[in-house]
Amino acid sequence: MSATHLGHVHQFVPGNGTDDIVLLMLHGTGGDEHDLIPLARALRPGAAVLSPRGNVLENGMPRFFRRLAEGVLDLDDLARRTDELTLFIGRAAEQYGIDSAKLVAVGFSNGANIAASVLLRHPGALQRAVLLSPMLPFEPETNPALTGTGVFIGAGRRDAIIPIAQAERLGELLKASGADVTLFEHDGGHTITNDELTAVRTWLSR
Ligand code: MLT
Repeated sequence: MSATHLGHVHQFVPGNGTDDIVLLMLHGTGGDEHDLIPLARALRPGAAVLSPRGNVLENGMPRFFRRLAEGVLDLDDLARRTDELTLFIGRAAEQYGIDSAKLVAVGFSNGANIAASVLLRHPGALQRAVLLSPMLPFEPETNPALTGTGVFIGAGRRDAIIPIAQAERLGELLKASGADVTLFEHDGGHTITNDELTAVRTWLSR
């Protein structure tokens, strides 16, 4: 089902009854609410999928927040869009009867960065998150309270867009904030590798 309400154009695909997880799929720059459905299917074939489209357009390409240049984020817009997405998650949970303990965010690139921003700005809004090719979107003034939050970070050693040190720094900050962090590094670039998919599958079934 596609819908324009709740603050984001989105798609909600109910699960087939064999899996109680709900995957919140957050696309990269230029993606949309359809983009990551195959990834969701590859990760958990029977899970429900909630997939919003980013509300910002950059040269016609949807994103979850504005940036000033590649890797240079518009932090005011990021804060506003992070609040907007957090509201959407709450509204969608109510609308579709989603148990927030069963919701797992899976973001790639720009989608991973907004998910990281939700973790840092609204601790507790996401209990589990898979961040693929992320960066540290901003340095919080104080560490958020993330005990009980599980985070998988996947990052490529040859990522030319986001240096791997950014993903490592994000992992350290989340760990220092109490999150249970799994860092998976691969030899690829700004992409999702097969080994990474296998590692995410294993992590999701823990
Ligand atoms: C971002 O703006 O979120 C990062 O530069 C990643 C990207 O979307 O290219």
